[in-house]
Amino acid sequence: MSETDAKPTKPAVLVVDDERHTREGLRRALEGDYAVTPAEDGTTAMRLLETETFDIVLADLRMPGMDGLQLIQRAQALPRPPLCIMVTAYGTVENAVEAMRRGAYDYLTKPVDLDRLELVLARALKSRRLENENVALRQQLDKRFGFENIIGQSPAMVEVLDTVRQVAQTRATVLIQGESGTGKELVAHAVHHLSPRCGSRFVAVHCAALSLNLLESELFGHEKGAFTGALERRIGRFEEADGGTIFLDEIGEIDPSVQVKILRVLGERQFERVGGSKTLSVDVRLVAATNKNLGELVKAGKFRDDLFYRLQVVTVTMPPLRDRSDDVVLLARSFLTEFARENNKAITEITPEAMNALLFYKWPGNVRELRTAIERAVVLARGDKITLQDLPPAIRAGTEAAREQGTLPPEQIAKGVLPLREVERQMFINALKACEGNRTEAAKRLGVSRRTLHRKIHEFNLEDL
Ligand SMILES: Nc1ncnc2c1ncn2[C@@H]1O[C@H](COP(=O)(O)OP(=O)(O)OP(=O)(O)O)[C@@H](O)[C@H]1O
Ligand SMILES: [Mg+2]
Repeated sequence: MSETDAKPTKPAVLVVDDERHTREGLRRALEGDYAVTPAEDGTTAMRLLETETFDIVLADLRMPGMDGLQLIQRAQALPRPPLCIMVTAYGTVENAVEAMRRGAYDYLTKPVDLDRLELVLARALKSRRLENENVALRQQLDKRFGFENIIGQSPAMVEVLDTVRQVAQTRATVLIQGESGTGKELVAHAVHHLSPRCGSRFVAVHCAALSLNLLESELFGHEKGAFTGALERRIGRFEEADGGTIFLDEIGEIDPSVQVKILRVLGERQFERVGGSKTLSVDVRLVAATNKNLGELVKAGKFRDDLFYRLQVVTVTMPPLRDRSDDVVLLARSFLTEFARENNKAITEITPEAMNALLFYKWPGNVRELRTAIERAVVLARGDKITLQDLPPAIRAGTEAAREQGTLPPEQIAKGVLPLREVERQMFINALKACEGNRTEAAKRLGVSRRTLHRKIHEFNLEDL
């Protein structure tokens, strides 16, 4: 990189004033540290703002044509609004206050004190930098919670993603069911981030973690003095999520008394804070998740049937990982890339034996368990590959047992994701079993000589069959 490349670009300042000597004065004062562009009126300034990017606008309040206030207001509507600082004559501070109300960042009085100018600009730039960082963070989050992160090409996952894409556009309540670790929370985020509500908040409440009273005030807020310990008014999560999405995780754990209130928010969009009499109204989209069978809970009288029916307008059922072996391969590779980068390790592959073990294992903890297993393996791996030895014993044990019994999943064989040697071994086991150990018969079926059969039996350790 050359030296000029390394130099940071100067912040861009647009100076708008109808008096030439003020424009020139400000330009001279700022030229050293800033890239200054002068404009003689509001209209010229707006044209510049629409075509170029400025960090800061220094605008005179009173100008013929479009005045400073109008300019600020229009500048706020730009896709990336600059920070506006008003310059105003003594005695018109009320106008400056009005300007702040319309979105100005700060104001300066005329004649402009240069030290103060420096200070105000420095502060404005700092705030602008933070704002930019926030935009970047937000984009990262969007990336993290959009579709790109949901890995899955198995038919069951493709169906889930199709449903999510469709319902995201609507206001419909979504119930996400599935075993632990199948990606319910990930899908809940995606519903929000793909919806027209993505500009507002996504508020997640983990219902199982809170006692009945706490949950109620968490969801609906409370007034000061509503109960012992309610020292201040508290805004509830439904209010926070206004315009956005609320995610009620583990909704099966909610007490029926709170279920009634949720039902009312869904139906009438109204509620009261705990200890409050004022009725508040919100526009919130509800996404709920559970790893319980809500239908069963309804039958057992633990979950209100009216709420259940409202919740299941759209039901998304997350398939367990053991039913989607295609995804195991994709997920494992993706987690490998992620953790190799995070741990600064040059691991790029999973050996066929290790992949085989991953395919064979039943994954009671689903994707979460796979993710943890790969993270652990990346940390343990010595070479540039993840081997069978790097996997947790429970995962290894399954394949070893399967190898002994010769029960490799036929669909894996058909897909060609198993090492050829493994498949060959399986064929010998099958043939020997089918012929009840009659070796002449087995050799005939396999189309090999008896000598070859013997060699293979020895090689694969199948003497007992
Ligand atoms: N399809 C997927 N693609 C990538 N990562 C996934 C996928 N599904 C789940 N994960 C990851 O697995 C972990 C568990 O997912 P998540 O928390 O969404 O599961 P959950 O169903 O809410 O589990 P629980 O019922 O235990 O709360 C997370 O780290 C998530 O990022
Ligand atoms: Mg969860």
